[in-house]
Amino acid sequence: MTMVVIAVKKIIFDMHLAIIWKVFDGIKFEIEKNILQLRAYFMSGENQLKKELLLFYGKDRPYQSFAGRGFEDVPFLRNSDDRFKIIKENLTARKGTLLDIGANLGYFCHKFEDEGFDCCALEENRMLSYFIEKLKKAANKSFKVIPQSIFNYKKNEKLVFDVVLALSVFHHFLKSKEAYFNLIIFLKRLEAKELFFEPHLPREFGGKIFYKNYTPEQFVDFIIQNSCFKKVEFVGKSEGGRPIFKFSEK
Ligand SMILES: C[S@@+](CC[C@H](N)C(=O)[O-])C[C@H]1O[C@@H](n2cnc3c(N)ncnc32)[C@H](O)[C@@H]1O
Repeated sequence: MTMVVIAVKKIIFDMHLAIIWKVFDGIKFEIEKNILQLRAYFMSGENQLKKELLLFYGKDRPYQSFAGRGFEDVPFLRNSDDRFKIIKENLTARKGTLLDIGANLGYFCHKFEDEGFDCCALEENRMLSYFIEKLKKAANKSFKVIPQSIFNYKKNEKLVFDVVLALSVFHHFLKSKEAYFNLIIFLKRLEAKELFFEPHLPREFGGKIFYKNYTPEQFVDFIIQNSCFKKVEFVGKSEGGRPIFKFSEK
């Protein structure tokens, strides 16, 4: 009996800690966002959103290029046009729902909304989610922004989409045992007709020790073993040499 009471107390204590942490995190984000907005307001230039983006990234470059107008001169790490072209040319679906996991700045949701898809941008990072929402409004788009980790999104439910994009994101989950097993749980919840997957290249992990370091082929086998997908094909290579695979149900 005492053991049960101790276990229940521990669960309640952990739940309280999680709530306090969530509230604290929310306040921290609001403060950071307001400071950024204020600094951008006093910076020279007309485009408030562009100024906020430049301040947020500082000396770094945004990961993705921008799909919206007015940001053509902002440098970025990855030109995403080539990946968009590869995926578009290999899509079986012509319309339906599309989930972009780790949407970053929402480039692919902008592009696939233009193609007639009902898109969801799922992004764990709150500041990136804020920017996705702002860039979406500036471009007059209507896709949904979900500021959440893929592991917490509709927890314990099936995730039903026509098309899913997992571009340069799943390899982050090879870093720890916990994330690796969360990825397996997520894959088992996924019910999609097509999945486009871009893995990392093993050499990119350098000398760092991760829980797993799959080659693209091993990563593909791992997805087949843990998901609803039965078929996989290589559909192209992006600019940095990362391969893109298409998974389908049959
Ligand atoms: C390397 S970037 C790739 C961005 C985009 N998919 C692309 O290929 O252009 C990885 C993105 O995934 C996001 N991310 C990482 N872990 C995540 C998680 N558990 N749930 C949702 N997004 C996540 C990061 O914040 C980041 O924006």
